[in-house]
Amino acid sequence: MIKTSLTLLLTLVFLSASAGLNLSAVQAANTDNAAAPTLYAQLGGEAAVDAAVDRFYAKVLADARVKDFFEGVDMVRQSAMQKEFLTFAFGGPVTYSGQDMRSAHAHLVEEKGLSDMHFDAIVEHLGATLREMGVEENLIAQVAAVAESVREPVLNR
Ligand code: HEM
Repeated sequence: MIKTSLTLLLTLVFLSASAGLNLSAVQAANTDNAAAPTLYAQLGGEAAVDAAVDRFYAKVLADARVKDFFEGVDMVRQSAMQKEFLTFAFGGPVTYSGQDMRSAHAHLVEEKGLSDMHFDAIVEHLGATLREMGVEENLIAQVAAVAESVREPVLNR
């Protein structure tokens, strides 16, 4: 898929530049049709990303498996960071300004036992958010693969 390739490519560029991550899980990105519109554009740009972030955090904060991790967290900043992240994941025009994934989550592993089951829940909510917004399953699978590529640093392994 044209938009899949471009979105994945831009996601990889973001992750490489911003987080110094191991991207072996998603190195199959193909670079043809680079002129295709981004998913960010196809979804409706900033308004769509705002909606996705709202929808995503509504799910996360309602989920007993993971909501305690966000207790005391500045959700205004958190939403801004996640919005930046998703904008990049959708191929949009923004520079991620947050911490790398290991630094951002290491204290959660140390102090709150962040583990695979919590990571799985977040990936589930990300997929459900995209699905509700009408994103095709093939692309959701690609985004899930990108999420998998940050599992090890997020869990500080
Ligand atoms: C695909 C996996 C994930 C991605 C891409 C991601 C992305 C991010 C980003 C961009 C930030 C902001 C970093 C900053 O403040 O500079 C962040 C912080 C945070 N993340 Fe994640 N995250 C992921 C997984 C998780 C999981 C599994 C949990 C817990 C269930 C979690 C909980 C948090 C919390 C609580 C913070 C705020 C930490 C603090 O401010 O003290 N994240 N994450």
